[in-house]
Amino acid sequence: MDNKKATLQIGNRKKITLDVLSATVGTEVIDVRTLGSEGYFTFDPGFTSTASCESKITFIDGDNGILLHRGFSIEELAEKSTYLEVCYILLYGKTPTKEAFATFKTTVTRHSMIHDQITHLFRGFRRDSHPMAVLCGVTGALAAFYHDALDVNNERHREITAFRLLSKMPTVAAMCYKYSIGQPFVYPRNDLSYAANFLHMMFATPCEEYKVNPVLEKALDRIFILHADHEQNASTSTVRTAGSSGANPFACIAAGIASLWGPAHGGANEACLKMLEEIGTVDKIPEYITRAKDKDDPFRLMGFGHRVYKSNDPRAKVMRATCHEVLDELKMKDNSLFKVALELERIALEDPYFIERKLYPNVDFYSGIILKAMKVPSSMFTVLFAIARTIGWIAHWKEMHDEGVKIARPRQRYTGHEKREFTSCSESI
Ligand code: CMC
Repeated sequence: MDNKKATLQIGNRKKITLDVLSATVGTEVIDVRTLGSEGYFTFDPGFTSTASCESKITFIDGDNGILLHRGFSIEELAEKSTYLEVCYILLYGKTPTKEAFATFKTTVTRHSMIHDQITHLFRGFRRDSHPMAVLCGVTGALAAFYHDALDVNNERHREITAFRLLSKMPTVAAMCYKYSIGQPFVYPRNDLSYAANFLHMMFATPCEEYKVNPVLEKALDRIFILHADHEQNASTSTVRTAGSSGANPFACIAAGIASLWGPAHGGANEACLKMLEEIGTVDKIPEYITRAKDKDDPFRLMGFGHRVYKSNDPRAKVMRATCHEVLDELKMKDNSLFKVALELERIALEDPYFIERKLYPNVDFYSGIILKAMKVPSSMFTVLFAIARTIGWIAHWKEMHDEGVKIARPRQRYTGHEKREFTSCSESI
């Protein structure tokens, strides 16, 4: 039982006592729920100091470079588990038994096909649409096809929908790509792993056999693990907010996809790749490094630094190793774009400007390079992020409903007009 108190002194008259709630690890929170009835709101644009919910799913300690899912470190999960096992852990909060995992895997694998009518839905989109626009629209539309389990107050319905989203998201995502390049859709294959099945749906054609490269399969599985969840980020908070009204889960995940699409959230690896292409050759790097250090130049090295992780990003370390494995496997270290990337990485790890400011390459720097090497077009990068993050969104949506939800209704600091008189400019009817 918490009994720590915080006292808020307002001017020299009013004193308000608030509870301080502990956390298992990490920052304690001041419970301000009674403040509204005292006649005050807290002001925190962007919610940078506000805990919007209680959660048991993911813990981040940015100062010490720690990321835990259900208590397990991301480094250990990336090394010893698979994406689907991480999905089980995020969803159920514990490691599965062999039998439970076999059942889970079979269920996810067997529900990857989508209602055939959905193929017609795609035809309503322009071929040159951004795949994120199509993904967002089709995911929202899934509610119209799977309306037999949309009662958010029914635990079984919530579980069925969680499986449907996890199983079908790679299929819809790969269809977005195939549609954009005018190739026929490729059906899912139940004999392949989650990552291999996605690669097959992306790159296979009916004309010839497509064999999934095991190194690329493992790399994609890692990318999925490293993007599976990241606490109360913008898209996850969006999913929770949308879901708090009782909205159907497909609509909530579509809202999450919309939020993820923003360049400040899911778009950084695409931006990083654009920068590498702009630099073009190794001899141009010093010019860009000088610009990055120049306080009067707004240019920043994309894929470097992090808002939360200030000592290291534990995901970037794993991603770096995977990136080198992929470039070795594909014999691409001599390609000019990757030469630029590797030289930038070398400089960042040695230059005092970057060392002093802790500006190491982040997870997006490496994921962009890996995906490019795998021939995934940059317009699909955020789509892949959405596939991976779907489990995080579902786990948070499910946790919110499992624990009882209050509709999200933030307040505001009003700075507009006071009440004033209205004079119409239109003629009376
Ligand atoms: N290139 C050059 N200098 C930089 C960079 C950079 N990418 N990032 C920060 N700095 C400098 C900055 O100029 C400042 O220098 P000084 O102390 O001399 O004034 C110092 O480093 C601290 O910068 P800051 O702006 O206080 O750092 P921040 O924590 O506010 O910014 C960031 C973090 C990620 C927004 C920033 O590093 C950045 O813009 N990076 C490039 C974009 C990027 O790669 N974003 C993806 C991040 S990972 C997303 C995820 O988790 O999925």
